[in-house]
Amino acid sequence: MSDPAPYFRHHVFCCSNQRPPDNPRGCCASKDAQKLRNHMKARIKALKLEGIRINDAGCLDRCEFGPTLVIYPEGIWYGCRTTADIDEVVQTHLVEGGRVARLMLPPAPDPA
Ligand code: FES
Repeated sequence: MSDPAPYFRHHVFCCSNQRPPDNPRGCCASKDAQKLRNHMKARIKALKLEGIRINDAGCLDRCEFGPTLVIYPEGIWYGCRTTADIDEVVQTHLVEGGRVARLMLPPAPDPA
């Protein structure tokens, strides 16, 4: 039996995790994650892009690169710090199917 087709063409998870200011890991919420996620949602709507879902996520465990987001089904991770970064990911990845190499996170270590 094969896997079912993805429900969304692109499913984007944006970390919005918040930690206390003195936490050594920091958090995406302290780096404008909510504003950036809202910007991405507004951009998707303005462009009338179909089949794309933007969801809040808890900590994605790549805090040092945040604000962190990941796009499925490709499983591509980005660290976006500005609305211009978000616009570039929307246009290049979600619209054109390319990759924004300068914003992509380094590969994760192999799972144990
Ligand atoms: S707080 Fe955002 S990835 Fe951990």
